[in-house]
Amino acid sequence: MINGSAIYPGSFDPPTNGHLDLIQRGSKIFEELVVAILRNSEKSPMFSVAERLEMLRELTADLKNVRLDTFDGLMVEYAKSIDATCVLRGIRAISDYEYELQMALMNRKLEPTLETVFMMPADKYSYVSSRLVREVAQAGGPVKGLVPELVEHKLREKLDPAYKLHDARLNDAPRRRGKKRRA
Ligand SMILES: Nc1ncnc2c1ncn2[C@@H]1O[C@H](COP(=O)(O)OP(=O)(O)OP(=O)(O)O)[C@@H](O)[C@H]1O
Ligand SMILES: [Mg+2]
Repeated sequence: MINGSAIYPGSFDPPTNGHLDLIQRGSKIFEELVVAILRNSEKSPMFSVAERLEMLRELTADLKNVRLDTFDGLMVEYAKSIDATCVLRGIRAISDYEYELQMALMNRKLEPTLETVFMMPADKYSYVSSRLVREVAQAGGPVKGLVPELVEHKLREKLDPAYKLHDARLNDAPRRRGKKRRA
C-alpha cells in the first residue's frame, strides 16, 4: 500500500468496465484514490459532470478509500491542491502508450515531484473506451459487458427518452393490475 493520495483523472463519459477495473486495482495499491472528472474535456459531452459523478458514486460506493472530485485546468495544479503524490493512468494498447508517455513527461516537466503510475486492465477490457461505448450505443448496438448495468440503463435513458417512461410503466404494472382486479 502506497501512502498518500493518488488521482485518477479522466472524462468518464461514461464510466466503463475498463475504468472500474483500474479504480479497483488502484484502490488496492494507494492509501487513497481520488477519481477526478475533468470538467471541460469535451464541448458537448454525452453525460453532464453531475450525471457522471452520480454514476461513479454508485459504482464505487463499496470502495472505502475511493473519493470523487471534479477539476478544471492543469491536472498538476489540481494534484498539488489536494496534496496528491501520484497520478494513475491506464494503458490499453500501444496506441495509448504514445499519448500517455507524452502527457506523463509533460506533467513531470510541470511538476517533477508528481509520479505517473500506469496500470493495465484485465485483457477483456483492453479494447474498451468511452468513445467506442458511446458510438456503439448511439448506433443501437449492445454494450453489455463493456459497462456496468447501471451505465447501460443510463445510456438507454439518454438515447431513448421513451425508455424511461417504458421502464417506469413496467415497474408500475403489477400495482396497477392489482388495483384493477380489486375494482
Ligand atoms: N479499458 C480501459 N483500460 C485501462 N485504462 C483505461 C480504459 N479506459 C480508459 N482508461 C484510462 O482511463 C484514463 C481516463 O480515460 P478517459 O476518461 O479518457 O477514458 P476513455 O475510455 O479513453 O474515454 P474517451 O474514449 O472518451 O477518450 C486514461 O488513462 C485511460 O487510458
Ligand atoms: Mg481517452
